[in-house]
Amino acid sequence: MNRTGAGTLTAERVGEQAKVQGWVHRRRDHGGVIFLDVRDRSGVVQAVVHPESTPDAAKALDPARLEWVVEVEGEIVRRDPDKVNPKMATGEIEIQVRRGRVLGPSEPMPFGVEGAQDASEETRLKYRFLDLRRQGLQNNLRLRSDFTIESLGYFREQGFVNVETPMLTRSTPEGARDYLVPSRLNHGSFYALPQSPQLFKQILMVSGLERYVQFARCFRDEDLRADRQPEFTQIDVEMSFVDEEDVYGLVEGLFARVFPLAGIEPPASYPRLSYDDAMLRYGNDRPDLRVDLEIEDVTDCLRETGFRAFQAAVASGGVIRGVHIPGAASSSRRQVDEYADIARRHGAAGVLWVKRDGGVPSFLVKGALTDGQVETLADRLGVEEGGLGLLVAGPAPTAAAALGALRVEVGRRFGHMREDAHEFLWVHDFPLVAWNGDEGRWNATHHPFTSPRMEDLELLESDPGSVRSRAYDVVLNGNEIGGGSIRIHDRDVQKRVLAVLGIDAAEAEQRFGFLFEALSYGAPPHGGIALGVDRIVMLMAGASSLRDVIAFPKTASAVCLMTEAPSTVDQEQLLELGLRVRPRGG
Ligand code: AMO
Repeated sequence: MNRTGAGTLTAERVGEQAKVQGWVHRRRDHGGVIFLDVRDRSGVVQAVVHPESTPDAAKALDPARLEWVVEVEGEIVRRDPDKVNPKMATGEIEIQVRRGRVLGPSEPMPFGVEGAQDASEETRLKYRFLDLRRQGLQNNLRLRSDFTIESLGYFREQGFVNVETPMLTRSTPEGARDYLVPSRLNHGSFYALPQSPQLFKQILMVSGLERYVQFARCFRDEDLRADRQPEFTQIDVEMSFVDEEDVYGLVEGLFARVFPLAGIEPPASYPRLSYDDAMLRYGNDRPDLRVDLEIEDVTDCLRETGFRAFQAAVASGGVIRGVHIPGAASSSRRQVDEYADIARRHGAAGVLWVKRDGGVPSFLVKGALTDGQVETLADRLGVEEGGLGLLVAGPAPTAAAALGALRVEVGRRFGHMREDAHEFLWVHDFPLVAWNGDEGRWNATHHPFTSPRMEDLELLESDPGSVRSRAYDVVLNGNEIGGGSIRIHDRDVQKRVLAVLGIDAAEAEQRFGFLFEALSYGAPPHGGIALGVDRIVMLMAGASSLRDVIAFPKTASAVCLMTEAPSTVDQEQLLELGLRVRPRGG
């Protein structure tokens, strides 16, 4: 007899014979009768074994406990009306088992695969194969699979060519450390695993492909967080003869196609914000637009006050900015202390406030400002009755970071976050480079192959910090879900940008000679983007960690608890590679 899906057995099939193979999801013993809920990928069905009428089946199935793999065969019968379970799709019927056997016994389970997660994250990752039996994770993997297949269909329709680029390659700088692979055949040499396929995809444009796509695995040895894994997947895209608008349109078209898989309908096109605007109005280059509150710069109206904190900020070239939180005037002293903690975590000295609580506005420090100044300040921030304006004075980046966090964290507490919304946007015009104070040099904001805006090019050497780039990010609910740029396709401009980044001509030639070569043989203007598959699927699934959408993820210390990778290797293997491991610090 052929196998039937457990979840497909409904009342219409009463009287038929069925054979089900799957896992014991629940077991109950009642007056000698064994009740087994058997689960497979299609669902769960109840099988009933009567020892009196079918002693062989009962004997064979009696040892079966939770998560044993069994086979049951018998007639589909209607349950007694009082035994019907409306919560189960198969709740009106059960299988009267005639024959049965154990296909795979199980050790006692370290945790249940049903209901609330009772085990620690560590145990669940060690037994990842069991954790993956949970419905939630199965749903996420299916969503991810649908997302991948649907996306590839879209790119195919748009004339893209799927190309696989090497995993054993040279360093591709994306701002992280490389994972290195020693070469046996080339003694003393190392491959790097790609941080992204960036240079290969650009070279494919020189090769005339015009439209490239790849679900690319990327490797970055960097500090991990809930939204970062050491290996992750990008939908990597590159196109020739395009500008920013073409890339935006392509991505918006893709999202319109794939987000509905999770019941999310993105708008046809997304709002756009320049980097400067995003920093000024939201304090962040990936603002969460589910919170409508905006930051206001009030430096000009507080420039002339006698208040020390304001004077000091202005005198040292800083700013005074604030954000109005409607309804927050009722915040207790303790709550206000918490707001100050949030601000301090982002580098600010603390937080000041102005509020309207029963008519005239008041300022935290009595007498520090004139009544007129308090009134002007409250007006500028738009503080309404019952509202609280939070203020930070200090260097612009600190004020932005602190208020950016307060805007979301305090805004959320007072009901200003539309939790169910999906707010997409484009952030563009990032600065080309940012000063790395620790190392005393300029870093690429995106990567070194990003084109400067042509109108800013003349400032490249004299004032690199003011050069805008043609980079863009796509943001969803405060998460950067993709980033890309229009590239440099002129070899000499590429060399100039590398020089600004402190890479001299000899080093540039040694590291990127193949790129310069390629750019010398008819390079088309080109650009593209990489979308973070793990982050996108996480947001589609409503999950809060990338681990929930990756089958075999790593911990925050980049360890796979199931396989216990990374691991030590044989002395012989090291010898063959010409490597010796020194003790840490040795
Ligand atoms: P970028 O470095 O911005 O660009 O990466 C693109 C997108 O990849 C996702 N992402 C990550 N996801 C999970 N874990 C990580 N550690 C991680 N790092 C990045 C993010 C990010 O927006 N070559 C360029 C793209 C280009 O210019 O076309 C690049 O890799 O969602």
